[in-house]
Amino acid sequence: MDKKNILTGDRPTGRLHLGHYFGALKNRVELQEKYNTYVIIADVQALTDNFNKPEKVRENIREVAIDNLSVGIDPEKSVIFIQSMIPEIAELTVFYSNLVTISRLYRNPTVKSEIAQKKGLFGEKGEGVTYGFLGYPVSQAADITAFDGALVPVGEDQLPVLEQTREIVRKFNHTYGDTLIEPEHLLSSSPRIKGLDGNEKMGKSLGNAIYLADSKEEVSAKIMNAVTDPQKIKKDDPADPDVCMVYYYHKLISKDNLATINSECRNGSRGCVNCKKELIANMLEFLKPIQEKRKYYEDHPEVVDKILIEGTNKARKKASEVMKRVKKNMKIDYYE
Ligand code: TRP
Repeated sequence: MDKKNILTGDRPTGRLHLGHYFGALKNRVELQEKYNTYVIIADVQALTDNFNKPEKVRENIREVAIDNLSVGIDPEKSVIFIQSMIPEIAELTVFYSNLVTISRLYRNPTVKSEIAQKKGLFGEKGEGVTYGFLGYPVSQAADITAFDGALVPVGEDQLPVLEQTREIVRKFNHTYGDTLIEPEHLLSSSPRIKGLDGNEKMGKSLGNAIYLADSKEEVSAKIMNAVTDPQKIKKDDPADPDVCMVYYYHKLISKDNLATINSECRNGSRGCVNCKKELIANMLEFLKPIQEKRKYYEDHPEVVDKILIEGTNKARKKASEVMKRVKKNMKIDYYE
C-alpha cells in the first residue's frame, strides 16, 4: 500500500522555541520516516492576522524553514513549501467556502478564542473580525486536502480546526462525489510545554520561551530567572521539584541524572543556583547540534532557497493532480 501523506506546518510569525520543538517538531522528524511528509510554511494563514505586517511574515519564512531543517527535517524525505506559492490552495479555498456556513465558523472554539485574544485587531467583542481570519479554517482545509493529507499531527487546541476540514470534506464528497480524503488527527504524544515562569503555555508574547536559536548568554539568563519552589528560601532547604520549572526542564532534557536531581532537591543537598547551572549546561548541549545545523543554513542561504523552490515545485505537482479531480467532479473542467 502507498504510504499515507502527512500535512503539518507552522505560521511564519516568529522563530520556533522549545514549546514547538517538544510539542510538534520532534514528532514531525520521527514521522517523516514513516509517511510522505508535507511541511507547509503557512504565510497566507499568517497574513490573516498579520495582514498589516507583511515584512514580518516574509522575514520569518526563512527562519521557520531553517528551524525545521536544523531539528532534522530532511528535504530528501519531506516536502517543505510556501503556501502562497501554491495557487491551487487559494482556488480550493474559494470552492470550499460554499460548503461552510458563517455561523459554523463563528462557533469554532479555536477561532472564537483567537478572535477574543486579538482585540486590538478585531475589536473588543470581535465585531471587527475579517472575513479572512474567520475563514482561516476553510483555507486550512485546502492546505490539507490539496495534498491528499490523510494524517495531521495537531495539538489539542487545533482539533476544532481539523474537525472543520473533516466536515468540509464530507460535504464535498457528498455533493460532488467521492473526491477528497477525510484526514484524521494524530495527537502529539508530548503535552504542551510550560514556560520558564510556570505559565501553562510557552509563547513569544509571554516572554517565557527558550528559542532554538538562543545564544549561550540568552539561555543562561533565562534559566537563571526561571521560577523555582517558592517555599525554598535558603540553598539547603528541602524543596519540591514538582513545582519547580528548573526541574520541569530537567525532565525534558536531563534524563540520565534525573533521579539524583530529584532526591537531592527533596533532601536539601542541591542549591537552586547549582541546579540551574547544570540545566544551562545540559540545555546548551541539547541545542548544540541544532544550532550547528542552523549556522550551516544561515551561512548557505542558497541551499535554503533551493530546498524551498524544489519543495514548492513538488507540492505544486501534487496539488495540480488533486485539482484535476476536484474540477472534474465539480463539473468545471472546461476544455480539458
Ligand atoms: N494552523 C497551524 C498553526 O497555527 C498552521 C497550519 C496551517 C497547518 N495550515 C496547516 C497545520 C495545515 C497543519 C495542516 O500552527
